[in-house]
Amino acid sequence: MRVVHTASDLLEVMPARGKKNAKRAVVMTMGALHEGHLALVRAAQEAADEVIVTIFVNPLQFNDAGDLERYPRTLDADCAMLESLDVDVVFAPSVDQMYPGGEPLVRVNAGAINDVFEGAFRPGHFDGVLTVVLKLLNLTSPQVALFGQKDAQQVIAIKAMCRDLSVPVEIAVVPTVRASDGLALSSRNVLLSDDERADAVALSRALGEASQVLAEGGPLALALAVGRAALADVPGVVVEYFAALDPATAQEVPERHQGDATIAVAARLGQTRLIDNLPVRVGQPEAQMAPSHEGDDA
Ligand code: PAJ
Repeated sequence: MRVVHTASDLLEVMPARGKKNAKRAVVMTMGALHEGHLALVRAAQEAADEVIVTIFVNPLQFNDAGDLERYPRTLDADCAMLESLDVDVVFAPSVDQMYPGGEPLVRVNAGAINDVFEGAFRPGHFDGVLTVVLKLLNLTSPQVALFGQKDAQQVIAIKAMCRDLSVPVEIAVVPTVRASDGLALSSRNVLLSDDERADAVALSRALGEASQVLAEGGPLALALAVGRAALADVPGVVVEYFAALDPATAQEVPERHQGDATIAVAARLGQTRLIDNLPVRVGQPEAQMAPSHEGDDA
């Protein structure tokens, strides 16, 4: 495994460069790796001949200076994990290497995705994410890039960028990896106190309860109410949103919505902010075909 820190070293060590038919995958991370990241790496190894993992805590996507400062940085341990998986190349650039002139003059704009949920609670976040993702795609020129369902709105934004700007890469999505009690693995989980860690399970539990209502044929409004009530029972969890969004656009779906949706949650536990989500299906396929007598005034 080669670990490089500059764009020019990266160009030199990328082994499939110039090799015909060799498929390259990239997994982008901010480090502090856990089993969720490793699931992406394993999926990348299945999908391609050569895997590059990038590790870069991207200041551009942090709207909160304290969050950037607290973000865990564990490069040596990360490299040891990636070495044990036999990753080909780790690209771990410095901030100066990525943004030599300071903040970039030009950045990618996430459009209407900035107005909702993570975009609304974290101004500038998705522009920062898309800018670094496009930059890393340009530096690594992979055929496939893998991202986690854990960051549902991020996946929507990246897919939209690649479609709208004709970025020549396939985006593959890997399901969320969870702890045994259901908590979605996250680099920020190490920042939780014992009490906060115990409370944090409420997020996945609330998503599970909401999804159960839908699985039993219940309406979306009831599912959301049940999920919100489950979170309201835990005083240590301060909810920012618990809502159903359109998996293609990230916009909130109307209560009458039928079909695929993503129930997404964000909450603060002390100083730490966590997100999670669950893809769901609202209503039965037959229900969409049935004649409707409501909403005739629409
Ligand atoms: P980071 O939070 O380090 O996550 C890197 C990748 O791992 C993302 O695609 C994320 O969705 C995925 N991931 C994180 N936790 C996961 C889990 N429990 N199960 C499955 N996948 C999980 O997301 C970022 O970094 C950054 O925004 C980045 C895309 C690297 C741009 O800076």
